[in-house]
Amino acid sequence: MSIVIIRQDDKINAWKKAIQRADPQIEVYGFNEDHPKENITMALVWKHPEGSLSHYPNLKCIASSGAGVDFIIEDRTAPPHLPITRVVDPMLAKDMSEHVLALIFAYLKNLNTYRLNQTQAIWEPQGYSRISDFTVGILGLGALGGILAKDLVHVGFKVQGWSRSSKRMEGAATFSGAGELQEFLTTTEILVCLLPLTEATKGILNRELLLQLPKGAYIINVARGGHVVDSDLIQLLNEDHLSGASLDVFHQEPLEKGHPFWQHPKIHMTPHCASVSDTISVVPQILENYKSLQEDRPLINLVSRLKGY
Ligand code: GLV
Repeated sequence: MSIVIIRQDDKINAWKKAIQRADPQIEVYGFNEDHPKENITMALVWKHPEGSLSHYPNLKCIASSGAGVDFIIEDRTAPPHLPITRVVDPMLAKDMSEHVLALIFAYLKNLNTYRLNQTQAIWEPQGYSRISDFTVGILGLGALGGILAKDLVHVGFKVQGWSRSSKRMEGAATFSGAGELQEFLTTTEILVCLLPLTEATKGILNRELLLQLPKGAYIINVARGGHVVDSDLIQLLNEDHLSGASLDVFHQEPLEKGHPFWQHPKIHMTPHCASVSDTISVVPQILENYKSLQEDRPLINLVSRLKGY
């Protein structure tokens, strides 16, 4: 039994080292090196090339090295019967929460505007907002959204969350299902999207939904680019229905050079860096599943293919 790591960035060695440090007995390969394909039982993947999962006759599990699994489910060439696992990691959740808090405070205190003004030597003090001024609404109360809600409550924001199925959160109002989405939206002034990307959530941040937010609402998307209808977002920013947006994720990454987001004065962008799996923190749960595969025990952090997360 052995593990193959399939990803197209430069992190294969870091993951390999972390696995070998945790258990020197484990055989682990990068997908670009020579390796015995019939021995591979687990593929640890991140945005793998399409088709690369079909080379392993004895594969038993596809493990995402991040929280999302949309890129596995979308790969029609990936074996459809295999279990998929994802990362559920307190460090990953905390990193996301800290990033979103930074974005919200930058919005409250106009930091992005001042940065833009600075490039043109413009001295123009503006009024600022306070924590007590806004209700933050989180779309998606899973492993990431749940921690963010807790942290926002702790800092003193009015917080509410929407999820597909009903959830309770201490200190935050919760809404669920299609029936409660409108009420959630009409009372949300800063909207944070932390939904998984599934057939049901693709393009959810579209004109119809965004128009239900109060005028002047601010959007933060740290989930997937596929949640946003880009042209609808730009239109609503230009019409001043929305006051701004912070985007970490895009339909195509890296974002193509000519995309209108780059130059839009109301859009603040980061290059999909809000929250990135830390190998040391994540490897133990990957190896726990690897051992469970050997011993025929149930896997942790298993994804429902039906739900898509
Ligand atoms: C990052 O985008 C992740 O899914 O972990």
